[in-house]
Amino acid sequence: MRIMRASEAHLDDIVSLNRVVQDIHVEHEPGRFCPFAEAAVRDYLLGLFGDPAVTFVLALDEERVLGYVMLHVYERAGGAYGPPRKYLELEQIAVAPDSREQGVGSALVDEAFAVARTLEIQDLELSVWQFNESAQRLFNKKGFTPCWHRMRTRIP
Ligand SMILES: CC(C)(COP(=O)(O)OP(=O)(O)OC[C@H]1O[C@@H](n2cnc3c(N)ncnc32)[C@H](O)[C@@H]1OP(=O)(O)O)[C@@H](O)C(=O)NCCC(=O)NCCS
Repeated sequence: MRIMRASEAHLDDIVSLNRVVQDIHVEHEPGRFCPFAEAAVRDYLLGLFGDPAVTFVLALDEERVLGYVMLHVYERAGGAYGPPRKYLELEQIAVAPDSREQGVGSALVDEAFAVARTLEIQDLELSVWQFNESAQRLFNKKGFTPCWHRMRTRIP
């Protein structure tokens, strides 16, 4: 397996992997996610390639893209309740279904650590849905721990 930075040339691969993630989200949270809208997603991701705060990393076997991770640097101004902060958000990660459970996700997270170190950013953060136990297991194994819980209820 080889890890490399993605370019716009890999957009098609990233879009198809992103479809898998969206499908999972739609299946479990149909009120919050819409069915995969390929053209809109492609435009959105293409726009991010021009954003210096964003890094796309790929895992490949020969030329086949097995998975990707998208990382985004955020800088927040301080305010009434907290100091300024800069952190790296692991915003998207997906591994092709037939390439899972072989260490690809783990290698992508390791590369996220490497990107954070290169950028001299100590905080790497992410959000993961409660239903997504396989993703939570991966993140737990890589040292992430929950730092806040979002709660909701439906008003009858
Ligand atoms: C979450 C996700 C990225 C994990 O990717 P992955 O490549 O399967 O991750 P890994 O292979 O590193 O680890 C997954 C499991 O395989 C196991 N594994 C790793 N290498 C292995 C090997 N060579 N042989 C057997 N098992 C192996 C790991 O121990 C881990 O086991 P666990 O789930 O029991 O803890 C992947 O499931 C995915 O793309 N899911 C859909 C998208 C998604 O949910 N994204 C996250 C949104 S927040």
